[in-house]
Amino acid sequence: MLRFEISSQGATPSPDKTGTRTLAVNAAFLKDIKDDNQDLKKLLDQITPITRHRQTAANHWPELIALLSGLRDQLALHFSLEEAYGYFDDAIISSAELSTTAEKLRSEHSSLFASIRDLADQVSEVCSDRPEQVNRLIKRFDQFRRAFEMHEEGELKLILDFLDDD
Ligand SMILES: [Fe+2]
Repeated sequence: MLRFEISSQGATPSPDKTGTRTLAVNAAFLKDIKDDNQDLKKLLDQITPITRHRQTAANHWPELIALLSGLRDQLALHFSLEEAYGYFDDAIISSAELSTTAEKLRSEHSSLFASIRDLADQVSEVCSDRPEQVNRLIKRFDQFRRAFEMHEEGELKLILDFLDDD
């Protein structure tokens, strides 16, 4: 069984001698990271309405270029913080299922970051007066946004499941 000792530094799993070495989640830290990520939320709230329609996107193209660069940088920080403080390597837990889910979610960071990095590069190469290029870009952003939202929901569920497992 996974036990968390909550301190001002976050939650620390207590070793269980019968458990197996695997990946666990520092639920308190992971939650703090998510709660404090106002900048990320603000960026997504700015980008999403702009990319809902092609003409709106075309009218805000220079702004969109800056916002996608900002989102790329913010996500680099976001994923680094989560990986540095939110997940444990070699923690000792008994639930193989939660460990597998944690490993899968952590491994999604690299592909999500590659997607936003490519989008931030591509947006500056698109001619905003070429509807098909604009459409392609905003469709790719929408796919990225959905994948990122599913990832975030998965991590929130993982936090609750880990705390529940105590
Ligand atoms: Fe994450």
